[in-house]
Amino acid sequence: MATTVKTTASNATAASSTSQFLAPVVLGLQALTINGKQAHWHVRGANFIGVHEFLDTLVAHAGGWADEAAERIVALGLPLDARAERVGEKGATTGAPAGFAHSDEVVAGIIADIDRVIADLDAAIEGLDETDLTSQDIAIGIKSGLEKDRWFLFSHIAE
Ligand SMILES: [Fe+2]
Repeated sequence: MATTVKTTASNATAASSTSQFLAPVVLGLQALTINGKQAHWHVRGANFIGVHEFLDTLVAHAGGWADEAAERIVALGLPLDARAERVGEKGATTGAPAGFAHSDEVVAGIIADIDRVIADLDAAIEGLDETDLTSQDIAIGIKSGLEKDRWFLFSHIAE
């Protein structure tokens, strides 16, 4: 006799809440991978090597975190629309420079991008508190890592 296997062991509320709160995080992190590269390529001036190289580390982290959050949504049986157009809309207000820029300006701009993702993570942590603690845990873990990277960047411009 054939056994029916459910798409997910989670309930519909957990799945829809995870999608609602983690999808913006995925888009913001995907945008950060693109805008972080733009910053990596165009930074100039003081601390060039440090900022240039760390921006690549940030891009790698952001890509990994986006994958983690996206796969949590999919694991609960829902799709997400993270095509380039959606990512572009999310990342349209980037602080990454359009061309060459001084490192202090680049760092401040990418920190502003990070802070927008952190705001979405805060909303996710709050919103998932009563609907899916496993997804909330993912948001908390990403926030912890992103705040560490923010510190690394901020330390380049701290007085
Ligand atoms: Fe590079």
